[in-house]
Amino acid sequence: MEIQEKIKSLIQQMTLIEKASLCSGKDFWYLKGIERLGIPSIMVTDGPHGLRKQAGEADHVGLNESVPATCFPTASALAATWNRDLIYQVGRALGEECRQEKVGVILGPGANIKRSPLCGRNFEYFSEDPYLTGEIAKSHINGVQSQGIGTSMKHYAVNNQEFRRMTIDAVVDERALREIYLPGYEIAVKGAQPWTVMCSYNKINGTYACENPYLMTDILKDEWGHTGLVVTDWGAMNDRVAGLKAGVELEMPGTRNENDATIVAAVEAGQLNEDVLDRAVERILTLIFKAAETLDQDFACDMQAHHTLARRVAAEGAVLLKNDGDILPLQKTTRIALIGRFAKTPRYQGAGSSLMNPTRLDNLHDEILKLIGVDNLPYAPGYTEKGDQADESLIQEALTLAQRAEVVIICAGLTDLYETEGLDRSHMKLPPGHDALIQRIAAAHAKVVVVLSNGSPVEMPWVTDVACILEGYLGGQAGAGGIADILFGEVNPSGKLAETFPLKLEHTPVHPYFPGGPTTVEYRESLYVGYRYYDTVGQLVLFPFGHGLSYTRFEYRDLMLSHPQGANGEALTVTFKVKNTGKLAGKEVAQLYVRDVASTAFRPAKELKGFIKVALQPGEETSVTLELDRRAFAYYDPQLKDWRVEAGAFEILVGASSQDILSLIHISEPTRPY
Ligand code: BGC
Repeated sequence: MEIQEKIKSLIQQMTLIEKASLCSGKDFWYLKGIERLGIPSIMVTDGPHGLRKQAGEADHVGLNESVPATCFPTASALAATWNRDLIYQVGRALGEECRQEKVGVILGPGANIKRSPLCGRNFEYFSEDPYLTGEIAKSHINGVQSQGIGTSMKHYAVNNQEFRRMTIDAVVDERALREIYLPGYEIAVKGAQPWTVMCSYNKINGTYACENPYLMTDILKDEWGHTGLVVTDWGAMNDRVAGLKAGVELEMPGTRNENDATIVAAVEAGQLNEDVLDRAVERILTLIFKAAETLDQDFACDMQAHHTLARRVAAEGAVLLKNDGDILPLQKTTRIALIGRFAKTPRYQGAGSSLMNPTRLDNLHDEILKLIGVDNLPYAPGYTEKGDQADESLIQEALTLAQRAEVVIICAGLTDLYETEGLDRSHMKLPPGHDALIQRIAAAHAKVVVVLSNGSPVEMPWVTDVACILEGYLGGQAGAGGIADILFGEVNPSGKLAETFPLKLEHTPVHPYFPGGPTTVEYRESLYVGYRYYDTVGQLVLFPFGHGLSYTRFEYRDLMLSHPQGANGEALTVTFKVKNTGKLAGKEVAQLYVRDVASTAFRPAKELKGFIKVALQPGEETSVTLELDRRAFAYYDPQLKDWRVEAGAFEILVGASSQDILSLIHISEPTRPY
């Protein structure tokens, strides 16, 4: 029997109580099954960058132990690879580990937009840009689900802060909702069909996500065609019956069957149509049987291969922000001093529900030893464990060490308490002990390389005083190896920022309205998030969106369009050439932006609408083709309740970053408004 027919027949055999029972969890991590009907109970587990399977005591804030699993780089680093294939491979590896551990769904990826650099969970999210977010999420989901394991794309929607995340009402205008906060989910739903979508805790324009028919049914199911189910974030359910009616099928974790009784009572009282319940149960059973089919078979994965993959991804997600005098890559014989506690005690993942137990943990000190083949390295901790104050004696020790070195590597960044679920940062600075160390060493040495470990942007008051900056993000269990590979030229850096690094917090467009409260947070900046704001108003930034250096150089030329006069609503094919003009093999992320030159509606200066990562040998040139559909030119018209492309001039911009546009063409698109 076809699986859908089997499910329909099972629903017919169920009592009302049994149907209601399936709509909430058995406990923290398990869905309910029904033994008499052969419906198994499947397990779900956090996510997103590794499995947090709790065999013992359960919690949703990452307190209790979980089974060792591969800790991949966190989402900020994954996005900085801009590499769809690589992200797919990470997804596939996560899926394999789920199969090994008999976990049916991994709770991730997170597709929330980085509205402010201060959001405590930014390390779990991809980007400030919705197109990049959607493309990375899509690859991640397709990778996991290629293994017959489900994902839970979260936290849908408009959950861009931790402050009062359970109750805050995000007040957002329709254009910002449609153009900034939803397209990431839309791209991934249409291109990957996540088996589940997790609704967030917060309200959106007055209604809790978990009882929001506009978001859960009208948009997600009807407009985008989501065929999976919606699960609540853990404990997010407010009114169970309203939730079911809105299109939220599954409540997690279990509520000791309280809400199951509420559902039964509502049906019996005629307040809830049983068809609504049946449709929810159908989606839940579809998920259970899909996962069960996979989990019925035993599977063992190659954990060593996953560690190797994690290292590759960490290297590709690291962003070389600055490399004055081409000090990097270092020679194996370069006399280095390694400074900063993070070199021995790495910061490699964030805190909260994503905190997991790695199979092993590399550190930069040992990875460099192995890579350059020596027995010891001059090392000094430089700051205290908390780093919250400059420590003069540790700085003196580091200065002495630095004097004898040709190049000084300083490992700095944010400590654990800065980046955690449940808490936003209050500023964008590094711990004072880290800033002081960098400043003092930079004043005494001309060749300082700063390696940063952090999940979100920081201010760098010392940016002009140091020669090199390598943003390592939170690189996972093999992150240190990836950094060593870049420092010594085993890997040519190719990461690019998936978010702007502003000069200071006060420059961020949301600064006056973040995090709002006590009851509402108003998204007054509307569309002007990240580079959409900085580029529109001409605000200088520390490092722009899309920026990242390589050890080689690339040139762009011959930008051409299939319809140079405007495509009039048809797909526009954009072609151009990229050449590696340097001496090393390398990878380049070519970015494609669209600018609406003449518009009656307000529009940002440019918007990312395409990208590709190409690998080129020295001297090699490749021709790139990217497609722009009608949507790439459109804005959301709230009156029309649809996307609109206006007549008038557009620019097609191609380049190495949002501010390094190497070629542009002006077209008129289209001749008639629609
Ligand atoms: C988090 C989710 C997580 C869930 C289960 C919640 O607090 O917001 O991201 O998947 O807990 O641990």
